[in-house]
Amino acid sequence: MDLEKLEAILASQSHEFDVVVRIAKEEDIAVARQMAKKLAQEMGFSLADTTKVATAVSELARNIYRYAQQGRIMLRKKEEGKSGPSMEIIAADQGPGIPDVELVLTKGYTTYERSLGIGLSGVKRLMDSFAIYSAPGRGTVVVAEKRRRRF
Ligand SMILES: Nc1ncnc2c1ncn2[C@@H]1O[C@H](COP(=O)(O)OP(=O)(O)O)[C@@H](O)[C@H]1O
Ligand SMILES: [Mg+2]
Repeated sequence: MDLEKLEAILASQSHEFDVVVRIAKEEDIAVARQMAKKLAQEMGFSLADTTKVATAVSELARNIYRYAQQGRIMLRKKEEGKSGPSMEIIAADQGPGIPDVELVLTKGYTTYERSLGIGLSGVKRLMDSFAIYSAPGRGTVVVAEKRRRRF
């Protein structure tokens, strides 16, 4: 069930991840972006995919800062699986939640007036997998994954 998944991820511990960035002030967004870029480079992601990962993390961190004021970006290398190595990206906050997740995934949807980012629909497009778990008053968790492609 989604609420259990949300609570489980909110309760996850820092040591389960390779990188954890606390988001609480605007500068933390750039820190999260930089850390994601560094991990993607270490994992051997292409330049294009490194940029996609950094852009996605930046967007998720900005949403945390803007809508929930604080939360965490958590990054993890996943080596297992037939599809090879991938990076898991989790954005977690205990903010107001998103009332209608399907609605906000509509391309071009925004509640923010001077929105410049690619939005959640853009993040979904950049990633290989993408899920949102959210409940009003409990918070929001986005789980995304990007596979490493070699070419
Ligand atoms: N972490 C979050 N907590 C609460 N609401 C959020 C969060 N992230 C996104 N939202 C809601 O979903 C909407 C869509 O987000 P997004 O696609 O990033 O577009 P934008 O940020 O430009 O509005 C936001 O306007 C906001 O209402
Ligand atoms: Mg946004």
